[in-house]
Amino acid sequence: MCGIVGYIGKRRAYDVLIQGLHRLEYRGYDSSGVAMITDPGELNIYKSKGKVSALEHFASNKDISGTIGIAHTRWATHGEPNDINAHPHCSQSGRIALVHNGTIENYTVLKEALSQQGFNFVSQTDTEVVVQLIEYIMDNNHCTLFEAVAEATKRVVGAYAIAVIDRQNPRQIVAARQSSPLVIGIGEGEYFLASDATPIIEYTNKVVYLNDGEIAVIEPDKELKVYDSNAIGKNKIEITELQMSIEQLEKGGYPHFMLKEIFEQPRTLSDCISGRITADGKRVVLSGVIENRSKFLNTNRIIIVACGTSWHAALIGKHLIEEYCRIPVVVEYASEFRYSNPVVNQGDILIALSQSGETADTLAALELAKQRGAFVFGICNVIGSSIPRAPPSGCYIHVGPEIGVASTKAFTGQVTVLAMMALLIGQMKGTVTDQTVEKIATDIRRIPTLIQDILSQSEKIEDLAKIFTYAHNFLYLGRGYNYPSALEGALKLKEISYIHAEGYPAAEMKHGTIALIDNDMPSVVIAIKDNVYDKTVNNIQQVKARGGKVVAIVTEGDTVVRNMADYVIEVPEISECLTPLLTAIPLQLLAYYIAVNKGRDVDQPRNLAKSVTVE
Ligand code: F6R
Repeated sequence: MCGIVGYIGKRRAYDVLIQGLHRLEYRGYDSSGVAMITDPGELNIYKSKGKVSALEHFASNKDISGTIGIAHTRWATHGEPNDINAHPHCSQSGRIALVHNGTIENYTVLKEALSQQGFNFVSQTDTEVVVQLIEYIMDNNHCTLFEAVAEATKRVVGAYAIAVIDRQNPRQIVAARQSSPLVIGIGEGEYFLASDATPIIEYTNKVVYLNDGEIAVIEPDKELKVYDSNAIGKNKIEITELQMSIEQLEKGGYPHFMLKEIFEQPRTLSDCISGRITADGKRVVLSGVIENRSKFLNTNRIIIVACGTSWHAALIGKHLIEEYCRIPVVVEYASEFRYSNPVVNQGDILIALSQSGETADTLAALELAKQRGAFVFGICNVIGSSIPRAPPSGCYIHVGPEIGVASTKAFTGQVTVLAMMALLIGQMKGTVTDQTVEKIATDIRRIPTLIQDILSQSEKIEDLAKIFTYAHNFLYLGRGYNYPSALEGALKLKEISYIHAEGYPAAEMKHGTIALIDNDMPSVVIAIKDNVYDKTVNNIQQVKARGGKVVAIVTEGDTVVRNMADYVIEVPEISECLTPLLTAIPLQLLAYYIAVNKGRDVDQPRNLAKSVTVE
């Protein structure tokens, strides 16, 4: 987590840094800070607990001049969120300033060693040891900032993206990366630096993604220099052209990014599908899968690793792949998989599913599976992020930047890609008929329009939210393809409204959870017409018999559940395997409106960050 920004050029650095921090605030928002070098070589550092707006307020009457600077927005790992632990951190002499995203695992050992050399530490962070270490190396080796950073990166163990400035050299930023993302934007005689491309896009669309172990020396009006970890060889720079637009990063008239992203889903899913189903609707084309046809045809097992919402999408992917490809699929939490000494066989395929492409656990699980001989495949949203750059193959979901911390359009994008993938592999293997592929592919094409229809019921869902705003607990029930939908609905509610909610397989409820049901515990039941519809209807009766209130999500025209449930929300009929794409929408809206009614910070809920780049 945490976001870092840097600027060097002719503009006032502060403006670029603050704007960049706002763009990166989704990565962490418990404190932030900036450091600028002013003309006479003064280093001004301003930090503030809270959001970036608090920092702006704090800096409003300060000297914010200077055309070089670095900045940081924090999600605390070591040390509580306060002004002292906020970045940038400064070396003992006040000469060097540094911002860091990641975690330094051996910081206690380094801190101890530096303390013995007379260094005093003011913060509780792991980061402060890096800046002190750099100064120590510079003083002892009489070397440049670049040489000191290169040496320091050999001594630290952990994940880092760092940007470092030296008060005595206002014409240079040194940056380095290991397991945390860093992008450099190339302007006209100026450079931008950030954890992702969102702070850069309004100035330039030319970027360089730093690779693990690389160190960059960034100087205005000079060519960008990138070195390998030994600081010897200059690496070849690969310039990427960004496809993102600035409009995608704005709220576009919506009160929150989350609402914008929910309402964007007809368009984002059109983009996700575009060019991937042939014009006659008979075949799916996903080049990452087709290029690796023999791997998918011959595998005995697919493992999907993911976290949070992506894990829920993975559970739906398991149903899809097992049903249409007859390949056993195991879905693992990435954080559990990586430390479980997992059995990975040659020929296994591991799919890393991640919106951000930066989730530390998912990335580590992918690396582990790769070492053990699996063929790894990434499915991500953020172009150029770490996961798509790590595996030999993969595909993007192409739903555009997701800024709201609660994932919405990425979830539906992930499920859509997994559905297309299942059809493609099934067709290649001959485990699904051409007629079934054509039927489901046609239905996939209908999804954007059907979601639009559901969105037109948003006022009804807003009214329903008013009834349940003050409930303290919720149960979400679903079966089959919609059991993961129940998990996802509960997670959405929990994370943005702070109401306790549990997602459960509807039939499992009677083995314990049913004891919770009473008049104060509403159940949201996904009861669409699928192969377990009658069973779900029974489960609703069991809840009603115990005085529970039921909000049911039903297939259009359903009268049975309508007569039984307290409230119903209809979704159109579609192939069963695609129903989670439709049921997700009312669940997202319900959580959103309840959170708004409770006055929650919907886009930036407490304690969370969008990219979880720490363990
Ligand atoms: C919940 C949410 C998180 C993420 C999880 C994985 O709304 O967004 O649970 O799904 O942190 O993130 P990615 O998909 O970026 O790996």
